[in-house]
Amino acid sequence: MIIVGSVRPGRIGLPIAQWVQKAAEGDWEIDFVDLAELDLPFMDEPNHPSIRKYTKQHTLDWSARVDAADAVILVTPEYNHSFSPVLKNAIDFLSQEWWRKPVAFVSYGGVSGGTRGVVGLEPAITGVGMVRTGASVEIPFAGKQVADGEFTPSAKEVAVLDKVLAELEGLATALRPLQNR
Ligand SMILES: Cc1cc2nc3c(=O)[nH]c(=O)nc-3n(C[C@H](O)[C@H](O)[C@H](O)COP(=O)(O)O)c2cc1C
Repeated sequence: MIIVGSVRPGRIGLPIAQWVQKAAEGDWEIDFVDLAELDLPFMDEPNHPSIRKYTKQHTLDWSARVDAADAVILVTPEYNHSFSPVLKNAIDFLSQEWWRKPVAFVSYGGVSGGTRGVVGLEPAITGVGMVRTGASVEIPFAGKQVADGEFTPSAKEVAVLDKVLAELEGLATALRPLQNR
């Protein structure tokens, strides 16, 4: 599952996520989640997600989608030295579905390459029991690499993404018996 963590008009998260999708295709069956299309409201469930007593169709649909995922890539910008709220909201909606799923970050932004956004999300992914890869793709000043709606990665970014995908594959196999499905 590749999650596009930005919903702004003109976002560069979409072309970056499309690059990730192209790189993973073939080895993986991809569920490409554009949070702009998913259009979840702000967390509106009355019960704690850990008990899985969902009352809204959008939550049931999101739950089934995440349940089916073997591994997750979060493509995330940095906003005001922290995470993208729409991405945090999508994580908060569920709990057991994320449990022991491998997760990798592809982050981008200005000088920090989105790393402060990732640090902001770390407690949330730890809270729901996800297991992070060692390698992460970090893209500073990513806007400079987007032209005509297409992202052009550097050789280093291609190499790190390959490493991330290989790690996710190993973790997906190792963690499968520990997941709630
Ligand atoms: C509300 C907002 C806050 C931002 N804050 C930061 C920041 O703290 N650090 C940074 O490096 N870039 C920051 N940026 C620049 C973004 O990383 C850059 O605009 C990027 O394109 C945003 O991702 P998106 O286009 O996919 O939404 C910010 C952008 C916005 C819109």
